[in-house]
Amino acid sequence: MSKLFSPLSLRAITFRNRIFVSPMCQYSSEDGLPTDWHLVHLGSRAVGGAGLVMVEASAVTPEGRISPADSGFWSDTHAHAFGRITAFIRAQGAVAGIQLAHAGRKGSTKVPWEGEGAVSAGQGGWTPSAPSAIPFAPGYLEPREMAEAQIESVAQKFAEAAERAAAAGFQVVELHMAHGYLLHEFLSPLSNRRTDRFGGSLENRMRFPLLVAEKVRRAWPSGLPLFVRLSVSDWVEGGWDVGQSIALCHALKALGVDLVDASSGGLVHDARIPAGPGYQVPFAEAIRRETDMPTAAVGLITEPAQAEQIIANQQADAVMMAREFLRDPYWPQRAAKTLGAQAPWPKQYERGRVK
Ligand SMILES: Cc1cc2nc3c(=O)[nH]c(=O)nc-3n(C[C@H](O)[C@H](O)[C@H](O)COP(=O)(O)O)c2cc1C
Repeated sequence: MSKLFSPLSLRAITFRNRIFVSPMCQYSSEDGLPTDWHLVHLGSRAVGGAGLVMVEASAVTPEGRISPADSGFWSDTHAHAFGRITAFIRAQGAVAGIQLAHAGRKGSTKVPWEGEGAVSAGQGGWTPSAPSAIPFAPGYLEPREMAEAQIESVAQKFAEAAERAAAAGFQVVELHMAHGYLLHEFLSPLSNRRTDRFGGSLENRMRFPLLVAEKVRRAWPSGLPLFVRLSVSDWVEGGWDVGQSIALCHALKALGVDLVDASSGGLVHDARIPAGPGYQVPFAEAIRRETDMPTAAVGLITEPAQAEQIIANQQADAVMMAREFLRDPYWPQRAAKTLGAQAPWPKQYERGRVK
């Protein structure tokens, strides 16, 4: 019996299998609104048999986008526009999720296919916000240090977005606390040099991300799971690390967070990351072991046997996959064949079923 294809239940939601589509920016939104591209891209992966289809990082304020073409979730118009996408994903038997995000100092940058670096105000950009006025890397804008009132306001925007996500038909919200974006910037001592109650000690650096988690958990229906994506390590001496992540996870668990999605990196532009097959799986395993929280493993998981082993060995409760799903929306079908399991398959495609 395949463990990868066994259902997973969190709160009132049951995922049909443990193969999750990792959030992936498509840089194809207009004023933050999804387009037909999103319906087809996300819909195809739901048709392909994934247990969860997660919408890309979607900004809770316009300045919280990475590029001007990013997805947004700061108004009811945005929520309404996602309604037909969540309906389609759910009609295929997949769970619809959305990652809520704020880009912090990595905001106002070009879309990847237009090169690297900042977008100026004249080109539709903005001055990014951050815990401290330290740019991410050469070529990035100097961010404005956030005042306490702005910190409280952004936490409130996350809560409002979560409320909207429920109205739009989403069944999972993931808070983006990873990859060098705003909430991660508050956690890491390398990007947070504040001397007020939001900086300095671990407790102070965790204060804003925990405030966001607390407000969102209150705004998000109690029957629906809340995920958090963490960069478990900055991969730099003196940065955010596994020990601090475990401390944070204990606090997140107490606030009602249901699953930790364990990624890494993104805060230090020239960090040396030993990337290789499954290189972040030990992070998911450590958090699961130390906190007893369900976790998702992510990063260079591409092979059915590899994914099966991660679940069977209880290193994680689910696998998130990104680039492999860009190559093959039907990966769950292929994996099911390899593992001798049954994957969901739409009745319209019955004559082409992988046998
Ligand atoms: C095109 C693309 C866009 C991405 N956008 C996001 C995003 O919106 N949020 C996020 O947390 N990670 C994002 N990531 C990272 C992936 O979710 C994933 O963590 C990473 O690619 C490693 O997994 P993989 O080896 O299966 O690709 C993105 C990755 C790619 C390739």
